[in-house]
Amino acid sequence: MKQYYARITGWGKYAPRRVLTNHDLEKMVDTSDEWIVTRTGIRERRIAGPDEPTSVISVRAAQAAMKVAGIKASDIDLIIVATSSPDYLLPPVSSQIQDMLGAKCGAFTLVAGCTGWMYGLVVAQQFIQTGAYKTIVVIGAEEISKAIDWTDRTTCVLFGDGAGAVVVQRSETPTGVLAFELGSDGSGYQHLIVPGCGAVNPPSHEVIDRRENYIRMNGREVFKFATRVLGRSLMRVLAEAGLSPNDIDLFIPHQANHRIVEAAARLMGVPEDRFYMNIERYGNTSAASIPMALCEAIEEGRCKPGDLLAMVGFGAGLTWASAVVHLGGPDESVAVSLADELFILARAKYLARRTVGMVQGLATDAIMAVNERLRIL
Ligand code: ACO
Repeated sequence: MKQYYARITGWGKYAPRRVLTNHDLEKMVDTSDEWIVTRTGIRERRIAGPDEPTSVISVRAAQAAMKVAGIKASDIDLIIVATSSPDYLLPPVSSQIQDMLGAKCGAFTLVAGCTGWMYGLVVAQQFIQTGAYKTIVVIGAEEISKAIDWTDRTTCVLFGDGAGAVVVQRSETPTGVLAFELGSDGSGYQHLIVPGCGAVNPPSHEVIDRRENYIRMNGREVFKFATRVLGRSLMRVLAEAGLSPNDIDLFIPHQANHRIVEAAARLMGVPEDRFYMNIERYGNTSAASIPMALCEAIEEGRCKPGDLLAMVGFGAGLTWASAVVHLGGPDESVAVSLADELFILARAKYLARRTVGMVQGLATDAIMAVNERLRIL
């Protein structure tokens, strides 16, 4: 059977026009630019206007990615939209986006908090590897500003709006997601939650009066969880891919707090400047954060087609996901680079390790069977 790979051929982002700075927030709640910068790394964030709902910013990011990939709407086989802040509870915003793009294909919305886009990328890879689809658009888009209690200083300073997208296409050259880990620990569901307006607490005057239609976060618990999983999950996917941190050209973490990334970098023994950060301009854009960061990192020349990237996300659920990704790019004729060779070597190492493991397992079983037989005799 032919082996297919999911090549990232296009990337794009959209940042809403309105900028809200820390100094603006100083006028709204009891906070300071100094507190926000030192505790989080954020200086400003974007807030979507009424003409920029989630569907619209998603379409703008997707169109930018389609332009880089050089594809038309009619080429798209599937659209995956990761978001926790759709235009409406129903319909799924993915169908609005499919219609606005003029695509004739399936589309679905995926909810996994800030980790959603990473889940979407892995799902897209599976559809392409099986040969089911050739071209998939994976979008991460959020308007968390609409779910924020703007009187709660513990959450309102952290989040921002935005959208990022990639085009993933079938390729016969090794590329795309080399190894991944998807994680969930629902025992911590209450640490990051919108308690009202769901099935447990349907919308009511009481729910609104108690401000339960807004995000509530136990920042310390989420912080502890994030510092625990980020570095460890990255190390596990690197090991699975047969790579070390030194083989990675750029780490692209979820942009939630620069201190969380500092802790992960320390744990891994990787200099912090090898982790791409743009949190100071956008804050935490949840499911949009990694595709936006990927797009900006490419635009700024921090990474390029042929590079090996390590991405990691975490968030509500609680969820997390990591992946080692070879960035393919639109040009299929890009010569086999060092990264491509590393990719092939890593795969070979991984398969060799698995084979050795299986042989060792079989040998152990055989020895145990012989011992058992000897014991009976
Ligand atoms: N301005 C000024 N003071 C503040 C602010 C603010 N905006 N917010 C909280 N404080 C105060 C607190 O009231 C507290 O005061 P007290 O000591 O008098 O009680 C003090 O600052 C310290 O509060 P902590 O919560 O201990 O501050 P901490 O250093 O933990 O930082 C933060 C808080 C930034 C929220 C941190 O915990 C964090 O980043 N957590 C992770 C959050 C995160 O990543 N969330 C996104 C997950 S992704 C997703 O799915 C959406």
